[in-house]
Amino acid sequence: MARFWLCAGCTVFFLAFLILHSRFSGSSVLREFIFQISWRSEEILYKLDVGWPKHSEYFTGATFCVAVDSLNGLLYIAQRGDNIQKVLVFTEDGYFLRAWNYTVDTPHGMFAASTLYEQSIWITDVGNGSFGHTIKKYSSLGDLVQVLGTPGKKGTGLNPLQFDNPAELYVEDTGDIYIVDGDGGLNNRLIKLSQDFLMLWLHGENGTGPAKFNIPHSVTVDSSGRVWVADRGNKRIQVFDKDTGVWLGAWNNCFTEEGPSSVRFTPDGKYLIVAQLNLSRLLFVAAPPVGSIGYCSVISSIQLADQVLPHLLDVSGKTGAIYVAEIGAKQVQKYVPLKS
Ligand SMILES: *[C@@H]1O[C@H](CO)[C@@H](O)[C@H](O)[C@H]1NC(C)=O
Ligand SMILES: *[C@@H]1O[C@H](CO)[C@@H](O)[C@H](O)[C@H]1NC(C)=O
Ligand SMILES: *[C@@H]1O[C@H](CO)[C@@H](O)[C@H](O)[C@H]1NC(C)=O
Ligand SMILES: *[C@@H]1O[C@H](CO)[C@@H](O)[C@H](O)[C@H]1NC(C)=O
Repeated sequence: MARFWLCAGCTVFFLAFLILHSRFSGSSVLREFIFQISWRSEEILYKLDVGWPKHSEYFTGATFCVAVDSLNGLLYIAQRGDNIQKVLVFTEDGYFLRAWNYTVDTPHGMFAASTLYEQSIWITDVGNGSFGHTIKKYSSLGDLVQVLGTPGKKGTGLNPLQFDNPAELYVEDTGDIYIVDGDGGLNNRLIKLSQDFLMLWLHGENGTGPAKFNIPHSVTVDSSGRVWVADRGNKRIQVFDKDTGVWLGAWNNCFTEEGPSSVRFTPDGKYLIVAQLNLSRLLFVAAPPVGSIGYCSVISSIQLADQVLPHLLDVSGKTGAIYVAEIGAKQVQKYVPLKS
């Protein structure tokens, strides 16, 4: 499996490369040196774990999403393709454990919801077959335990609940669920469901104004009760109060080139990590204090190789490691924090 270079501030990178190439050609000294020069203007927060995973041969499709169960040290990966295993389970150390494809059609997003009593994995399925248009909950071993939506039927209905290309979800420890629906289908909505799947609030309009969406692609919740949505088509992140659904603000200024495709916080809550798919870039944005959304400010970035296409990512709440599902490179890579 091809490995992709970490390259930040590419102009500086190539200048440094030209100057140093003849002297240090091929040595690890060169690699370290370039790495530091290219990151000089930004804070260096993460580095690629080049030894992860131990078994990349299990990546046999287009890897669309990842979810970390940091409580149990497990990593779930979902991939698309014909006649392959759709869900792969690894340890966070990179060892392959098991796989399944039963009832999984076309996975898009996932979320690992683990408590002391239950390990589960949720998957949004954008397939149009008999398992599609749904959000499904599996046990850690792959047993299907819950289906939200109407399998095989896309729609805009709330009773019965119907999705069209549900993009991602976030599940709180209380069991409350936040769903972004979806990825370019009939719906452009953010829905909060209670633990018994009753709708608590909804923003459901397509558009560019506050609390309207155009491809709401990823969702996360911070420790101060704010819901963050990657409103990809509108090239912004919108923020809501998790209890009331009230709109709190939006960030546009960091995403003029391309909208955000994934949002997750670092475990200390200091940074929002944002993926930009076609730019093959990860941004680290300073999280604003409670009570203010303000403007966004990029503190650090990781430029991946061209066409890697980072789609969705997840972060270990324990170690801060970032796992990135790369649909172009057809692999998941792990980045580890330099300081812990
Ligand atoms: C499930 O995975 C197995 C093993 O890779 C494969 O032979 C089978 O065709 C897959 N099934 C589907 C429905 O993709
Ligand atoms: C269902 O999806 C498959 C594969 O993505 C596609 O080839 C097919 O045209 C779709 N069918 C409908 C009815 O949309
Ligand atoms: C939502 O609006 C955008 C333009 O603002 C349009 O391109 C898109 O097709 C609309 N989506 C739906 C589902 O109506
Ligand atoms: C990425 O590029 C593809 C192909 O040009 C395009 O269809 C897609 O909308 C782009 N995605 C984003 C998030 O800009």
